[in-house]
Amino acid sequence: MNRKVVLIITFLLIIVACKPTIDNSSTTVKIIPFGEKPGLLRQPYLQMASPTGITITWKTTAITKNCYVEFQEKNQFAKTVVKGNIVNHEGNILNEVALINLKPSTTYYYNIYSNGHLLASGLEYYFTSAPNNNKTAFSFYALGDIGAEEKSSFASEPASRIKELEKKPDFGLGLGDIVYPKGESKNYDNHLFKPFQEVFKNTPFYPVTGNHDWLSDPEKNFEKEWHLPGNEHYYSYTYSNTLFIGLDSSNGNFYKVEEQISWLKNTLEVNKNKYDWIIVYLHHNGKSCTYKEDYEHVKALYKIFANNGVDLVLNGHAHTYERLKPFDFEGNVDASIKNQNQYTNLKNRFISITIGAGGKIEKKWKVNINDPKNCPDGTIVAHSEHVPSFGLISINGRKLNFEGINSLTGKKFDDFSITK
Ligand SMILES: [Fe+2]
Repeated sequence: MNRKVVLIITFLLIIVACKPTIDNSSTTVKIIPFGEKPGLLRQPYLQMASPTGITITWKTTAITKNCYVEFQEKNQFAKTVVKGNIVNHEGNILNEVALINLKPSTTYYYNIYSNGHLLASGLEYYFTSAPNNNKTAFSFYALGDIGAEEKSSFASEPASRIKELEKKPDFGLGLGDIVYPKGESKNYDNHLFKPFQEVFKNTPFYPVTGNHDWLSDPEKNFEKEWHLPGNEHYYSYTYSNTLFIGLDSSNGNFYKVEEQISWLKNTLEVNKNKYDWIIVYLHHNGKSCTYKEDYEHVKALYKIFANNGVDLVLNGHAHTYERLKPFDFEGNVDASIKNQNQYTNLKNRFISITIGAGGKIEKKWKVNINDPKNCPDGTIVAHSEHVPSFGLISINGRKLNFEGINSLTGKKFDDFSITK
């Protein structure tokens, strides 16, 4: 073969190897790089779902130099490619890709690539963008106190039951104490992401910190693991006709208390008449008949919640399940309500629920609503159940349904509805 022919063949090979992949929606052109195939240490997980965007993150071994996501609308062939960011964290790489310009309420399948190598694809790798209207019915799950070491955690049980639900929830809330014992990044994979990987790869998750997450610096741990709105400690977002507010109740008082409470008041003031529902979630309980004390910093917000249209307050902390009767702005039970399963017109009332048996249950304790330690007469409790559990909330217009679900059996053990 003469030199000229060799040169031409080499040139052709280079063209093929560097064939650019065209982003057909936003005209991004990227060259697929070649490099060593990294190990996939953490399956992809979804965050920041909006009507037009979502963030997909996965974790690889440290040899990764670049990453991208290829995605396509369900039943369509045209693929879009979006390049991501590489974040070095604790000797591994977080591959983070933020997708934009999505169509609302649309399901897409995605493939993830690092160093030009396909690391994951298939029918379980999909997401649905959020709706851009306030009419769409939706559902979400919520649980706290989730990820502990294998021998003391049953986190894979709620994850399996969530996967088995007849209707897949649109997203999930993490009510603090996300990873035990100290919220360290090094424990996230074994304690949380492995048991929840089948849920997280197609269902976005929005956690808040708990007191255990605060035992390690959140800036170097919690904030690295998650992409959340705002400062990632306290934040709000909307989904259909509902405003969600996540708070950071830290370790006995609120993180940056003055700033956070003033932000909360302002957020509620600005939004209280804009949404059909407002749902607040945080780690600590206010009043409670569980083995945990009443937390004054949370009780101090009751008046703000009740007067600003908050409907539900979801928390973890006590490793059990407890639904309280509707509270008024004084923090007292509304004794005029007879039916604790069907509520209508709960104006200036909210319902507080502890869902803290997400991955752990308190072994040395039994439900005793008459325990004088916290509850002199137990009348504030609508339903207690000391079982591994999670909450499933469905919203359809001005009707909200809540279900407490046993994580071991998948059976519903508590429910109520609120109609406006
Ligand atoms: Fe806690």
